[in-house]
Amino acid sequence: MKGDRKEYRDGGEINVEDPNDPLDLLSRWIQEAREKGAVEPNSMTLATIDASGAPRSRVVLLKFLEGEEIGFFTNLGSDKAIEIQSTPAVSATIWWPEMERQVRMEGTAYEMKRPQVEEYHSSRPRKSRIAAWASDQSRSLESREELLRKFEETECEFEGTEVPLPPFWGGFRITVDRVEYWSGRPSRLHDRVVLTRKGDSWSESRLHP
Ligand SMILES: Cc1cc2nc3c(=O)[nH]c(=O)nc-3n(C[C@H](O)[C@H](O)[C@H](O)COP(=O)(O)O)c2cc1C
Repeated sequence: MKGDRKEYRDGGEINVEDPNDPLDLLSRWIQEAREKGAVEPNSMTLATIDASGAPRSRVVLLKFLEGEEIGFFTNLGSDKAIEIQSTPAVSATIWWPEMERQVRMEGTAYEMKRPQVEEYHSSRPRKSRIAAWASDQSRSLESREELLRKFEETECEFEGTEVPLPPFWGGFRITVDRVEYWSGRPSRLHDRVVLTRKGDSWSESRLHP
């Protein structure tokens, strides 16, 4: 708000070792955030575009990072999944207040192959796997009791057996085309370094803060 004013100084200089490995610094920053005890070091705001062309955003957890791709898991019937399926252009932003750093990414999302989703699903705690079955994500819910009832019914249904992957649950990979690293520096003279895909390679440039 108006009276809140923070002097930035700890983000540090941005050092991209190889622009052709555009997400290397992201993975190092996530690791540093984890070491600094950030609550959710891999949470990111994901923006999609709805059928009317309006932007919509929400937080998801970045659970996959490889080469030029990041990924997350979700319900395939959710609003975000429906939006991606009709318009795959997305953007994602991560902000770590503890480190005074931000990363912005823009790219194209596509659905993950089932074996990758299976692998992640089987690594989740049992209650999370049950919740994936019980939640009709983004659809209207009569009451909290209804959700708890569905959860209990699902628990009974799979008692004594593995909780299988729901067919309506999956993930998306995002191939990034632009990555911007931002770091808080003194006197509002923050660092901004942008990596942009140019055909088969990547270019690096700086922006005014
Ligand atoms: C810290 C945090 C992490 C979240 N992680 C996920 C996630 O990985 N996947 C997911 O589907 N929803 C996640 N959510 C919930 C979403 O923000 C959102 O409420 C939900 O996915 C429905 O979004 P939609 O209606 O736009 O599809 C998370 C919320 C928070 C606050």
